[in-house]
Amino acid sequence: MSRLDEVRGRLRRIGQDHVLQHEDELSDAQIHAFVDQLASLDLESIPRWVEEYVRKRPASGAPADLSPALAYPRDPRSPGDPSRAWAREDALRRGEDLVRSGRVAVFTVAGGQGSRLGFDGPKGVYPAGAVTGKPLFACIAEWIIAARRRYGAPIPWLVMTSPLNHKDTVAFFEAHGHCGLPKDDVIFFQQGVMPSFDAHTGRLLLARKGEVATNPDGHGGSLRALHASGALAELKRRGVEHISYTQIDNPLVRAVDPVFIGLHAGAPDSSGEMSSKMVPKTHPGEKVGVFCRAGGRTMVIEYSDMPEALSKATNADGSLRFNAGSIAVHVIGRAFIERLNQGDFALPFHRADKQIPHVDLNSGEVVQPAAPNGVKLEAFVFDAIPLCRSSIVLETDRVEEFAPIKNAEGADSPKSCREIQTERAARWLEGAGVKVARRADGLADCVLEISPLTAMWAEDLRGRPGLPARIEPGQKLAL
Ligand code: UTP
Repeated sequence: MSRLDEVRGRLRRIGQDHVLQHEDELSDAQIHAFVDQLASLDLESIPRWVEEYVRKRPASGAPADLSPALAYPRDPRSPGDPSRAWAREDALRRGEDLVRSGRVAVFTVAGGQGSRLGFDGPKGVYPAGAVTGKPLFACIAEWIIAARRRYGAPIPWLVMTSPLNHKDTVAFFEAHGHCGLPKDDVIFFQQGVMPSFDAHTGRLLLARKGEVATNPDGHGGSLRALHASGALAELKRRGVEHISYTQIDNPLVRAVDPVFIGLHAGAPDSSGEMSSKMVPKTHPGEKVGVFCRAGGRTMVIEYSDMPEALSKATNADGSLRFNAGSIAVHVIGRAFIERLNQGDFALPFHRADKQIPHVDLNSGEVVQPAAPNGVKLEAFVFDAIPLCRSSIVLETDRVEEFAPIKNAEGADSPKSCREIQTERAARWLEGAGVKVARRADGLADCVLEISPLTAMWAEDLRGRPGLPARIEPGQKLAL
């Protein structure tokens, strides 16, 4: 039996053989490529996915017994809850030792489609530096270079791409000298893809004749792809134990944070499997996942799954009861990912209704729908948290570490990112005795950017020679 006949049989059995409808119009090479694509998909799981996620619309993911997750506070001297007392110096020392001894790698997920931003190309190439316009990849690379210099350790950098942006991403790194890092210490691997479905019929959509429409399988796909690609084995070979997980869209992320790594590795209630950072939510409706507890496990509940009454619930002092917003920053133990991949592990999928261009089966033409017509399924990395034996959360400051670029305008946009970069730099400079021009509303009246190569955190600027005495209104300054 030919490979085509074999795949045809499998498609018939799952009721999806319409995708071969244009078979006679395809060249041998096109048929060959199509059979390759179909054989790479998990065809036998499709009926279950259609049933669970397309036909049914999964119910809200919030368990009934939710309580807020208790986070380690940013300031260890004011723990609030005595069980959250911690010693910053101890965590710092432990984390620094781990980095210095080569036990830490950075991992950036950069396989997303960046559709909200609408940028043509991998998001990591997007110019993010408030003054320099340096690309997001360079922002993270500079942090890694700074940490390598400070701790005298190699610190490999894993970059996850998707089939949609892999070639362009690798080409960017090659054209830019691997952003100043040794080529061998930047490890690329690709995540998997999921087929996209017609929202009404559950049928596979065709991107064109001879190709099923697919989408990257979500940042949660990274936990399987790390293993399947061999990247995890490579980290083991290099002696790496902890993986500092970051997303590509946040230029302020502390790609290597020894305090967080040390707490993850040493806190009495951490299993060292997967730890997270949070920032207090700004308002009940803020669109961030929230750290919660249920059934003795820590978990993130998506904002859309959070019952409104709980989102709005307050403590006696008026603060939000469920206030721990996820910023998608984690440290993950290598051994934890190995353990997950030993068994038959699968994170749940989340459904997104999208406008997906596809071949109209009647006309044979590619159509661009005006309204959502299709379903994409993605796994989210935070769904691995409840699989930990125990998992901790550390509070951090939004301005210090969180300026994501998600949207073209408004919240979480390039503009808000520049403003946060400026505010953070203004605070650091003021802490170092520089007078920064501020407007009547208190916001910095200038544009500022500080490279991690100059300062990784505020303390690095204190006493630094050559700082200006003042920043004038309207001034632009990159340090
Ligand atoms: P987002 O959820 O913001 O998605 O990804 P996105 O694809 O970048 O943007 P939109 O939703 O299309 O506008 C958060 C992080 O997870 C990565 C992204 O690259 C980003 O760093 N990601 C997302 C992946 O690596 N793979 C995916 O399949 C999805």
